[in-house]
Amino acid sequence: MQHISSTLDVPDTSYVPRHVAIIMDGNGRWATQRHLPRVAGHTRGLDAVRAVVEASAARGVQFLTLFAFSSENWRRPADEVSFLMRLFMMALRREVVKMHANNIRLRVVGDLARFSPRIQQLIRDAEARTAGNTGLTVTIAANYGGRWDLLQAMRKMLARSPMLDPASIDESVLAPHLAMAYAPEPDLFIRTGGEQRISNFLLWQLAYSELYFTDVFWPDFDAAELDKAFASYRQRERRFGRTSAQLVAPGLSGTA
Ligand code: FPP
Repeated sequence: MQHISSTLDVPDTSYVPRHVAIIMDGNGRWATQRHLPRVAGHTRGLDAVRAVVEASAARGVQFLTLFAFSSENWRRPADEVSFLMRLFMMALRREVVKMHANNIRLRVVGDLARFSPRIQQLIRDAEARTAGNTGLTVTIAANYGGRWDLLQAMRKMLARSPMLDPASIDESVLAPHLAMAYAPEPDLFIRTGGEQRISNFLLWQLAYSELYFTDVFWPDFDAAELDKAFASYRQRERRFGRTSAQLVAPGLSGTA
């Protein structure tokens, strides 16, 4: 598949972002506000995932990446972690059928070895089943961390070329080993739930992404909220280090 993954290419921002990456935050607080157990927020969070996947596909987004479970989330109470695992399993079983019917390709990135063999098998099955689909690619980041990704990419790079000359290592040597090498870098990063942090999400790939933060809790994030984020994105001028004048006359541009 052809895509632009270099920050040296300036994509057109007149339409929807090609790759949207989301930190889905605020499930717990959404539930607590309603005097519900925190896990009720995760259940509603899954409904929001469904709505945002559908809306993204309908608007022509090509890649949607969702941070479902960070490397740090294992520190949560054991019953919440096990609830999230069950929800993940259920989603892999049920939602994937619908995704497949809608030509959606599913990928899961992260350190998957920590998940149960059952979940790992479900992930492999879901990825294999949807691999040939040509519509939206939904990536679930699970037990993912940006630093983990950089480290595993370095290990893979060196395993493949142990005698690599350090001076020859540039972005194009490392980037193909990153977990999401199949996707262009996110054009738009969204974080719900009011915090304004990257929280060890796609550290390398977010270098030039537009950042959008909203106080809306994830279970309340829907197609209308996604449209607000897209409207904000369209107002941004993405310069990738260039001056505004260079964007008007790209022939004059350098790429610094
Ligand atoms: C953050 O809210 C959310 C999570 C850690 C889990 C995300 C899970 C889902 C959206 C549902 C399942 C999704 C899939 C793809 C199976 P939080 O619990 O940190 O909320 P808080 O900050 O209010 O405590």
